[in-house]
Amino acid sequence: MSSVESSIGSSSSSSSSSSVVYPAGELAINGGFEESPLGTAAANWVLGSGMRIVEGEHVLTGNRALEVVVTTLGSNPWDIQLVYSGADGAGVPVLSGTEYLYSIWIKGPAGARVNFTVGRPDYQELERREETLTGAWQQVVLEITTSADDTVLRMPTHFSISGNAGATFHLDDFSFRLKNPPATGYSPVTVAHLYALSPNNMPIGVAVPAGDASISLLNSPARQAVVNQHFSQITAENIMKPSYLQPAQGTFFWTHADALVNYAEANGLTVHGHTLLWHTQIPNWMQNFSGTREQWLDMMRTHIAAVAGRYAGRNSVVSWDVVNEAFEDAGSRYRGDPLADSNSRVSVWYENIGPEYIEEAFKAARAAAPNADLYYNDFSIEWNQPKLNAVIALVEDFLARDVPIDGVGFQMHVWANANVNNIRNHLKAVADTGVKVKITELDVRFNHVSPPLAANAYTPALADQHKQLIRDIVKAYLDVVPPAQRGGITVWGVADGDSWLLSLYGRPDWPLFFFNDMSPKPALQGFADALSGS
Ligand code: G3I
Repeated sequence: MSSVESSIGSSSSSSSSSSVVYPAGELAINGGFEESPLGTAAANWVLGSGMRIVEGEHVLTGNRALEVVVTTLGSNPWDIQLVYSGADGAGVPVLSGTEYLYSIWIKGPAGARVNFTVGRPDYQELERREETLTGAWQQVVLEITTSADDTVLRMPTHFSISGNAGATFHLDDFSFRLKNPPATGYSPVTVAHLYALSPNNMPIGVAVPAGDASISLLNSPARQAVVNQHFSQITAENIMKPSYLQPAQGTFFWTHADALVNYAEANGLTVHGHTLLWHTQIPNWMQNFSGTREQWLDMMRTHIAAVAGRYAGRNSVVSWDVVNEAFEDAGSRYRGDPLADSNSRVSVWYENIGPEYIEEAFKAARAAAPNADLYYNDFSIEWNQPKLNAVIALVEDFLARDVPIDGVGFQMHVWANANVNNIRNHLKAVADTGVKVKITELDVRFNHVSPPLAANAYTPALADQHKQLIRDIVKAYLDVVPPAQRGGITVWGVADGDSWLLSLYGRPDWPLFFFNDMSPKPALQGFADALSGS
């Protein structure tokens, strides 16, 4: 969850020296101290004595925050002060007669008092707030309207108030932005860190390309910035599937998956493993394997034990899709059953082992990775009643027979005109079994619905429809899945152009939370609004 406060918005007027781009209207650069090394210097800030950038437990979001230790009050109330002074140290360029929002988060001893100020270079003050602290993180917000001749402002914060001697404070996530950002046509996105709004730190995940993908996360600083800034978990979109990890029998390829897990750990992210067993994206040798039922079971168990076992010791790999899509599209029969619908008659696992492959896979996964949450993952169960019924029957059977299972993944590849009430009821039906519920692959298609809703343009109106749908889905999830059963919510990709949907249907579509320039879409704000309950 480290973050580079960056690249999430259409360009603003800020005179930033770095190459980062901020939300429309955001003027604070390095407001979260993420772009500063540990120590006593921070770009765009003037630190007073006893101040330094720290990381670890005292951070609100991202990896870094500012620590202020007031060893003495000094003789001048402004001796111990922190100033946000902008890129060139002269202050923040502003427009005259314009409304701005100042916001900063602070944690300090209950009862301690701190002065937050927005002023002019000649030390005249536009606004000063003396805040009494609570002991927990609290946000200080000032609304400023510049005068006719204001062109630059400074933002000093000072701690030289009686009672503060010997106290320690932490500050993070400073923002100074236009109250009404320039109209980009899309409704504003102001969320700083999506994951930070998640109740009880429920995982907020994103599927990422990796390995030799041309847009691999590991080769894309722009995607890294978005992932680190907004998400707390990643799922490998492809490279942890059987075809990638065991390309030849007994020959495993760990390089790309290890690199992704290393990235996650280096950036404070967890990993949801996807997927130990699936009827597709398995290597040819598996597809063409021949042997007795026991030999099939042995081959299957060997793969699961190798993969789940390899990452069992990595605290970051917290859960797995053990079996993916074991039921037919129509719902009630197993995929691979000769009587299944025409799309669903192939599954080497069902055909060579029978339905017991599912429970054997879960047992093998539990044995190999006893600390990981084990999920059954499928699509359409948010609306397909027969398939939902089949999944619930599987779960209840497993629970009754102590077959290990921890949760169900709702992939949620939904259409823009999805019925949220159905989604709510289906999520609840699985939650009522007592297992965890995880939204594992959320995306929204606009052009593959009938009639197409978008045809060829993602208009601001469509963006707001997207925002509303995401808000409603996330709210429904939070309403019906008890906190202890929330496996989290994962979106299936970073930027719209990365989505599998585009190649699937060969039409334009806008299924995700970021435009192709990595700027955030209103749907991200809808997610944030649902998480924060606003
Ligand atoms: O890696 C090869 C590359 O070497 C080759 O040049 C290229 C062109 O043939 O293909 C690349 O493999 C593609 C792979 O994605 C990586 O980009 C496969 O052809 C392509 O079929 C594969 O599509 C993935 C799809 O699963 C496979 O069924 C999508 O990216 C991925 O988003 C999608 O994800 C699935 C979930 O795993 C399970 N739930 C459904 C979801 C959507 O189908």
